[in-house]
Parts: sequence; structure tokens; C-alpha cells
Amino acid sequence: MTAPRTDIQGPALIEELGEWQRTLRAQFPIVTAHPELAYLDSAATAQKPQAVLDAVHTYLTTTNANAGRGTYPWANRTTTLIEQARDRVKGFLDDPAPERSAVHFTSGTTEGLRTIARDWLPDLLADGDEIVVPVADHEANIAPWLEAQRQLARQGVHIRVRPMPYQRSSGDYDHIALAELAGGRTRFVAATHVHHVYGGDMNIHRIRRVVGPDAVICLDAAQSIGHLPVSVADLDVDFVVFSGHKAMALPGTGAVWARQTRGPEFTPGGWSGTPNTVGVASLATALDWLDTVGADRIERWTVALAARLTDGLRHLDAYEILGCRASLAADSSVQRRQGIVTFRHHAIDSSDLGFILFSHGFMIRSDQHCQGRAGERTGSVRVSLHVYNTVEEIDRLLGVLATLG
Ligand SMILES: Cc1ncc(COP(=O)(O)O)c(C=O)c1O
Repeated sequence: MTAPRTDIQGPALIEELGEWQRTLRAQFPIVTAHPELAYLDSAATAQKPQAVLDAVHTYLTTTNANAGRGTYPWANRTTTLIEQARDRVKGFLDDPAPERSAVHFTSGTTEGLRTIARDWLPDLLADGDEIVVPVADHEANIAPWLEAQRQLARQGVHIRVRPMPYQRSSGDYDHIALAELAGGRTRFVAATHVHHVYGGDMNIHRIRRVVGPDAVICLDAAQSIGHLPVSVADLDVDFVVFSGHKAMALPGTGAVWARQTRGPEFTPGGWSGTPNTVGVASLATALDWLDTVGADRIERWTVALAARLTDGLRHLDAYEILGCRASLAADSSVQRRQGIVTFRHHAIDSSDLGFILFSHGFMIRSDQHCQGRAGERTGSVRVSLHVYNTVEEIDRLLGVLATLG
């Protein structure tokens, strides 16, 4: 069970981590170059620290070559770099058995999930099997599974898609309802670690307990990698899919981690040509950087900022906060809100609110956030935080929001 939180709120934590955070913020050139702006859209993509920018420059000016082809030093170094980056991903995910897992680099979470659905899922499933699809999560974690169902049906293999049940009040999965619908034919469960709209940690431990030891769990970790510790040893999942660009690497990067022991081996089919070598170099450096900084401290910082924002919003009658209202309470053991806070104004349309907030220097995401068809139909604005965000930005945002009440 997720441990109750007693450490996430309050000025003491902000005081404790303040100096640490100032040092880190100074490492993001795009952030420090624009003190008049506040980037509050890290769930879409994260800004890059100087270490990642340096790694890109160094790779392109000392090593740039194709991988797995030439025999000259730059080509060999690039091949080694990609192999080492695979190990880096395994280490970052706290993989207890790296010799029994595989890492495949992709352009992001969407491509990673599609690759699993296209190249791996059909070998797992037989006629009459069932899969669970999180229909109110990001569209990237829905469409590939429905497409796999259609493809299999064309081959005469009919699988049943069971929509993941949700608790509407919190945006969390409904584990009790899931226990009722999951049975012996449930072979595969697609889940999300941190919800990209509601901001909640979706309690993956409980999903494993509910679906049992044999079902394959595929985790969309787009919003958790780089934001909180993600340990495959602890979570007991079979796939972890994430976007490197949301974890401070270059755009067009991402990875699939696959445990090779439950179900068929994951071997992405076909030759996908030249890999994104510089992207992989940036990803390895970003993961190094995040490990050095400490995902646990990043989590504490962003959760504290989210708590401050949520507390402030609760005092403003014009706003409705989406997702779990109680999740920031210190005694909440059900669902923890991470560094994402989504809300709407009772009278101002969310796109208009986005424009108004940008006129005050805030970059936030508005509208429907690529949520699946079972998700919110009314737009909202989303504030998503990372380690470079500050208390001052949150307080300034709350000040502007208060004037719109
Ligand atoms: C939970 C979740 N899954 C998948 C994606 C898709 O990621 P990408 O665009 O990097 O493929 C996102 C992007 O916002 C996301 O938040």
C-alpha cells in the first residue's frame, strides 16, 4: 500500500529545499533567461539542464556517427553509447534482473505503446482473451490497444476490451470494480503511473494485487519518470514506457523497458533504420542528471508546490479543481497528487483563461489535454510543475487567478 504522506506540505519543506532548488534552477538556461515568464507546462515537455545541452554539443562535435555500422572510432563509440544507454535506463528503473529485460529506444511514449501493441501484444493473446484499457487516460494509452483488437479480429482472433473502471470523484482507478471485472482471461492491463490531467499517482501496487501475478501490466510512465522514483522492482510491472523529452532529454526521445519473463519476448519487429543517436546521448545524460539530483527530492518539491497551488485555489470560489480533492491531505493513503494541478473557471472558457494567463507571463496547457473519450469533455487549464518552478511563481499565479474571480 502507498505509504501515508506526512512530509509533503508546508513552509518547512520549502525552506528545507529552497537553497537546493535555487542551485538547480540556475542550471536551466531557458528558464533563467526569461525571469518574466513562468513555464508551467512540464507535463507536455520539460526544459533541459545545461548538462544535457553540453552532452548534445559534445556528442555532435566529437563523436557524431551512425551506430552499428562502421568500424572506425566514432561509429564504435556511438554503438557503445547506445548499448550503455540501455544499461543506463535499466539502472535508472532499479531493474533487479537486467539480464532478463530489454530496452528499446523510441520517439516517445506514444511510439513505445504502439510498438508494444503492434509487435508484441498479438503473440500474447488468444481468442477469447481480455485486455483492460484505461479509457480516461491519455489517448496514447488507448488507441494502440483498440487498433490491436481490430487487427487481431481481422485474423479471426477476437479479444475483449474491458474499460478500466474509475472513481469519478477522484480520477483514480476503481480497484474494487477492477477486481470484479478481471478474471482468468485477463491477460494484459494497460495502466498509467501518474494521470496527466488529475495528477494522481494511480496506485499500481493495487492493480498488481487485483489482477494477480500472471497478468502483464504495461505502465505508461510519461508523467512519472523524472518526477518521482520509479522502481520496476517495487512496482512489479512488465513494461515501462516513457518519453525522454518529458524527462529533460531532447524531443524525439523515449524508451520501452520490457521484462522478458512474463509472456513472449519483446523484440520490436522490423528494421527501423538509423537510431536517434544524439537523442539517446541526451537521454543517458538526462537520466544521470536526474539520478544525481534525486527523484525523491524532485517529488517532494513539486508536490509541495502543487499543494500550495491547490490550497490557494480552494480559497477562490470561481475555480473547480479536477481530480482528487483529498489527495494532498497528509493522511491520504489512497491517491497522492503529484506536481500536476488541473482546474477550470466557472465563467471563463479554458482557452481564454490560457490566453489571459499568458498575458501575465504564465505558460500553461488549456483545453482537453488529449484525454481519452471517457475523459473530461469540458476544457480546463493544467499547471504542471518541475524542479525549476518556484514558490514565487505559484504565489504570483494565485494572485492573478484571484483577480479573475
Ligand atoms: C500520460 C501520457 N501518456 C502518453 C503521452 C504521450 O507522450 P509523447 O507525446 O511523448 O509520445 C503523454 C503526453 O503528454 C502523457 O501525458
